[in-house]
Amino acid sequence: MIKHETIEKNISLMILLIVIVISGGGLAEIVPLFFQKETTVPVEGLRVLTPLELEGRDIYIREGCNVCHTQQIRPFRAETERYGHYSVAGEFVYDHPFLWGSKRTGPDLARVGGRYSDDWHRAHLYNPRDVVPESIMPSYPWLFSDKLTGEDTVAKMEALRIVGVPFTDAAIANAEAEVKGKTEITALVAYLQQLGTVMSNRR
Ligand code: HEC
Repeated sequence: MIKHETIEKNISLMILLIVIVISGGGLAEIVPLFFQKETTVPVEGLRVLTPLELEGRDIYIREGCNVCHTQQIRPFRAETERYGHYSVAGEFVYDHPFLWGSKRTGPDLARVGGRYSDDWHRAHLYNPRDVVPESIMPSYPWLFSDKLTGEDTVAKMEALRIVGVPFTDAAIANAEAEVKGKTEITALVAYLQQLGTVMSNRR
């Protein structure tokens, strides 16, 4: 039996025991998630993004939209009344990386798809104050002139396929042609418009 004093006076032993305790706790929380169906099986109807939506997602990340917007509705009444069905793990199995976020300077966007028209999003992203006068969201006018080349779309899709996103060969083969020459705003709005739609008829 080791006395507590012995542990406190032997830093190496203390570090070793702390590591054992923390890894034990961590593993007990994390490992089951890899095996629970609920977290690994896509919700019914979940589809992979189109090449255009995928490029839109990368623009969303590049512009830091996820710094001000979460994509995660918590199971509280105040949230579900405002945003819709709370987020479930199976919606995110094709998301790499997750864009759940942790700071809501703006509203949650997990179910924003279909809530506004494409024209509304374009006007809003060009200058948020044109449609929401009190908005503090930045303007993104360059998205309207910058065009996608599609150069690396195929490589991105192939990389995602390695981590389990089931893009078909046909989708990958057409990817470059599908996005080439389109404006960044078109891609971003396409991405926004599909957010959360898989759950839109669930209550
Ligand atoms: C500095 C923080 C900030 C950043 C960065 C930001 N937003 Fe916002 N966003 C807001 C705020 C605040 C609002 C609420 C006012 C408004 O509607 O403009 C908002 C509102 C929105 C809405 C309307 C949501 C709703 O349900 O009414 C959408 C869509 C949106 N933002 C998309 C984006 C996208 C896409 C980006 C990245 C290109 C982005 N935002 C970047 C702060 C931000």
